[in-house]
Amino acid sequence: MAEFFLPRNSKIKKGETHAAPAGAKRTKTFKVYRYDPDKSENPRYDRFEVDLDSCGPMVLDALIKIKSEQDAGLTFRRSCREGICGSCSMNMNGTNGLACTTAIEDLSGEVRITPLPHMDVIKDLVPDFTHFYAQYASIEPWLKTKSPTPAGKERLQSPEDRAALDGLYECILCACCSTSCPSYWWNADRFLGPAILLQAYRWLADSRDEYAGERLDDLEDPFRLYRCHTIMNCANVCPKGLNPAKAIAETKKMLLERTG
Ligand code: SF4
Ligand code: F3S
Ligand code: FES
Repeated sequence: MAEFFLPRNSKIKKGETHAAPAGAKRTKTFKVYRYDPDKSENPRYDRFEVDLDSCGPMVLDALIKIKSEQDAGLTFRRSCREGICGSCSMNMNGTNGLACTTAIEDLSGEVRITPLPHMDVIKDLVPDFTHFYAQYASIEPWLKTKSPTPAGKERLQSPEDRAALDGLYECILCACCSTSCPSYWWNADRFLGPAILLQAYRWLADSRDEYAGERLDDLEDPFRLYRCHTIMNCANVCPKGLNPAKAIAETKKMLLERTG
């Protein structure tokens, strides 16, 4: 896969090198993007040599080890360590993914780690998700109904209707897809991007939701939906194996069908 562009504030100079402890026999070098907004300095790459014999198997293990043993100031997000929370998304050797589910042994040579591409950077590997979350809120990602709530029970779904949500509900909002999409890089102000469009379709596909018409009205716009040009990076990069491009195609189909 082609390498994605670096974050926006990226005039990058060479930084410090942190050597592995003496006697380490099997080491790997991680070249990590550093940016501190409190210092008026350009970003830099620091190099950390990690002793793989005393490190867990995943990139997140290496980052935690670096932070514990070599540079406590290194800043990144993580929580679950199981590919569930979506907070450790970053770019590793040119490809977006989750640091906690990316094995170090699958990355060749010196491993370059940068924040997700084309997002503003808060610090080091932490991108600013403010706009992404505002776009998510804009699609009203909750069940919306018009009919009265059935007395004493939930709104039920058949097994088939429930199955229609497979491949959608698993999204962890990591933004690996949106930040790999060239259309989103250049039009993030108005294009919703693959992650948010997959979420929008998740509610269109829900048999219990009664606002499909209004949801489609909201998406029928040259930018919000139609800036997807089927580039497919989104489907190739999703760490959960989801296909936002398919969800976008299904949404376009729903719009076509209602105009006849
Ligand atoms: Fe992440 Fe995949 Fe959801 Fe995109 S579709 S936000 S890559 S989990
Ligand atoms: Fe972008 Fe995926 Fe469409 S990469 S252009 S959202 S198919
Ligand atoms: Fe939760 Fe990686 S730490 S997805």
